Amino acid sequence: MPFVTLKEVLTAAEEGQYAVGAFNANNMEIVQAIIEAAEEERAPVILQASQGALKYAGIGYITAIVQAAAASSTVPVVLHLDHGTSFEQTMQCLKHGFTSVMFDGSHYSLAENIALTRKVAEVAHAMGASIEGELGRIGGTEDDISVAERDAFFTDPAEAQQFVAETKVDALAIAIGTAHGPYKGEPVLDFARLTDINDRVAAPLVLHGASGVPDDSIRKAVAGGIRKINIDTELRQAFTRAVRQIVQEKPAEIDPRKILGPAKEAMKEVVKAKMRLFGCCGKA
Ligand code: G3H
Ligand code: 13P
Ligand code: ZN
Repeated sequence: MPFVTLKEVLTAAEEGQYAVGAFNANNMEIVQAIIEAAEEERAPVILQASQGALKYAGIGYITAIVQAAAASSTVPVVLHLDHGTSFEQTMQCLKHGFTSVMFDGSHYSLAENIALTRKVAEVAHAMGASIEGELGRIGGTEDDISVAERDAFFTDPAEAQQFVAETKVDALAIAIGTAHGPYKGEPVLDFARLTDINDRVAAPLVLHGASGVPDDSIRKAVAGGIRKINIDTELRQAFTRAVRQIVQEKPAEIDPRKILGPAKEAMKEVVKAKMRLFGCCGKA
């Protein structure tokens, strides 16, 4: 099936009141794990390439691998740029066939973020693609910041309303207490803020840094209007855990396929479990 846009899958998610999983892909085994999980669960799926993925694999390889996987799949697949850094980079991805790009202008002032995101949105829309923007700062679990500092980075609901109205983004990533990477403690999400943002913003909302967020909080976030959920860290953990186990248990094994194959299967199980949690199974 040819790629579909983010707008298409999130419009259906809004109608059905579920969230679609967005999984970070860096190599062939990861792409296969995600697509096979989506096929087996009959779930729409978003494969996203981060800055690290583009550096590691290169845009040509990433696009070709995901295209090959999507060509033989029967579920809707979105190829999305995760945390795009510049106008030029988003254009390069769109030229390669991405059907969605994120422009992350969250480190700019509100006015600059709006101006830069709007520019990307105009071109993305003219090319038939979708765009995700970010307002508020999501950051990393390794950032050594206090709770007060963290709260200051949370998305302001009134600004979110203005941002979406002026940029025309198809999805909005918000900061409500999650962070990228493995959490040291249990993340606490600001659900009242989520409700406030959802009441003011018609665009579907995106939760980044969802690895390690308790299942109950994820369910509450989906009930509160989250429609795209980004998972990377838990995929890395599953893959690496399996590789370590095989290398330890079978030190004489020299066939990479016999190490990476089971790692792919371990990752696939995590993807399937997340899809069930997000409510998107059987929706393709
Ligand atoms: O949002 C960040 C993702 O988890 C991926 O980061 O650039 O190390 O691939 P990365
Ligand atoms: P985690 O690595 O914390 O799952 O976050 C993924 C993410 O938000 C990618 O944009
Ligand atoms: Zn992210």
